[in-house]
Amino acid sequence: MKVFAGNSNRLLAEAICNYLNLPLGKATVRRFADQEIFVEIQENVRGEDVFLVQSTSFPTNDHLMELLIMIDAMRRSSARRITAVIPYFGYARQDRKPGPRTPISAKLVANLITEAGADRVLTLDLHAGQIQGFFDIPTDNLYAVPILSRDVKENYNLENVMVVSPDVGGVVRARALAKRLDCQLAIVDKRRERAGESEVMNVIGDVTGKDCLLIDDIVDSGGTLCNAAEALLKNGATSVTAYITHGVLSGGAVARVTSSKLKELVITDSIQPTTAVQSAHNIRVISTASLIGEAINRTSQEESVSSLFD
Ligand code: R5P
Repeated sequence: MKVFAGNSNRLLAEAICNYLNLPLGKATVRRFADQEIFVEIQENVRGEDVFLVQSTSFPTNDHLMELLIMIDAMRRSSARRITAVIPYFGYARQDRKPGPRTPISAKLVANLITEAGADRVLTLDLHAGQIQGFFDIPTDNLYAVPILSRDVKENYNLENVMVVSPDVGGVVRARALAKRLDCQLAIVDKRRERAGESEVMNVIGDVTGKDCLLIDDIVDSGGTLCNAAEALLKNGATSVTAYITHGVLSGGAVARVTSSKLKELVITDSIQPTTAVQSAHNIRVISTASLIGEAINRTSQEESVSSLFD
């Protein structure tokens, strides 16, 4: 087994290698003057079980292209099996046609990764589980919920905790955490009653006096999260903390979170945290290295990956 990384998340790749007690494979991924990407694998991979760690996070298209070119380089270097390890799978929110004459870009990206020569995909908290089916190669979708629930248990008094989904679409994910923690579940239902009127946030469930834990897969602009936090506090919640797998945090999202009433935003390192994220007073990053490292180990040993979540 050999583990290599593109430029998107080298810190996580190094932490995974640490878990596996392996050196990170030697490869350079650099740019020509015109910004074309050039990859050179600097050690022999002939006959090896290769894992390429690369999140397709911002700048998404560059990181995706790096991944595709690395897969191609591995294939042409006679790797025995190539697994694309994609802790954050970008384009996942484009998983259906929202209107006529629009693309399904998540499917296109799955096709590109497969056509480049990946034999397997290992990813984490896909925006929608069905995206697994966009790949015609074996795809393991890991869940961050065991890591998140462990952190909650270490930091919260569970007797007063209420798990909350920030929108109706996230109820299944929130229910999984509530079940693990044996806590109640509430839902924020975002609704625009009439066109042109502002959205109304209805809270389903009694959150009075509760420490609310919002759970979601992605925080991007931070809008969904901060609006849900406001609604919960207005409805009598004592505090609101958020547990979100992928800290996309584009544009002014970090400033939005730091100036919000959120007690804490806990994200994972599926996307490498920026310096702004690292210095934010109410954002904390927890690592997925042992989860992903163990899944890589089991894939390589042909052992069960699903049993990681029993
Ligand atoms: C949406 O379905 C996702 O689960 C997230 O709730 C959404 O992507 C968050 O985006 P933002 O932070 O921009 O509101």
